[in-house]
Amino acid sequence: MIVLFGNKGDLGSYLENNIKNRKIIGVSRDNCNMESKEFIQKFLEGIADKYGKIDSIINAIGRIELGNFESTDISIFNKVMNDNVKVLYNILMASVPLLSRAGRGRFINISSIRGISGAPNKSIYSCSKYAVQGLIDSLRLEYKDSGIKFTNICSGLIGESVTKDDIVKAICFVLDLSDATYVRNIILGGLL
Ligand SMILES: NC(=O)c1ccc[n+]([C@@H]2O[C@H](COP(=O)([O-])OP(=O)(O)OC[C@H]3O[C@@H](n4cnc5c(N)ncnc54)[C@H](OP(=O)(O)O)[C@@H]3O)[C@@H](O)[C@H]2O)c1
Repeated sequence: MIVLFGNKGDLGSYLENNIKNRKIIGVSRDNCNMESKEFIQKFLEGIADKYGKIDSIINAIGRIELGNFESTDISIFNKVMNDNVKVLYNILMASVPLLSRAGRGRFINISSIRGISGAPNKSIYSCSKYAVQGLIDSLRLEYKDSGIKFTNICSGLIGESVTKDDIVKAICFVLDLSDATYVRNIILGGLL
């Protein structure tokens, strides 16, 4: 069973409808408060109690914000950091103990090609996605004996060099792997 954070977003709703043959529970603002790790933790524990176990958690929550560096004031900076980094931090804080207790499980985060290379007019967005990369890379090593496998999907702009279906295929590729292995990053399209 998969828990999908961000199932009301453009990509998240596509993932919910197109990852086949797996039960998916969608999580959005409608049923969860992403600003509270305690809320998310209770929410996930409720799902685990009801369905027995959570095999994988996917995060498709995020905020794309483009603009010239000097035009991105502190309120934009704070919003992008909150939605891309702090929300992920909250989700991980709630997910890691649960998957750790189970001794297995995948955490797949939808990041961006901007988490591994910068670009003009994407400085704040890229800054947030580099933070995401550091967080996921660190947890992969810190929890290497826990059974949790972390993957960061670094996608280029959807509709330009990547389709939503490519992301579905990338996620299914990771989900179909044996528990013995992991994929650190999947880089799809984009300009490096
Ligand atoms: N679209 C692309 O071309 C592309 C390319 C590479 C990577 N990505 C990444 O893919 C992810 C999804 O992108 P998308 O295109 O699907 O964007 P989207 O349509 O804007 O979806 C993002 C979802 O996240 C939710 N969200 C944001 N902040 C939240 C918060 N604090 N609490 C709860 N929900 C929150 C949004 O809800 P609200 O609408 O209610 O705020 C929305 O449902 C992002 O991380 C993005 O960086 C996208």
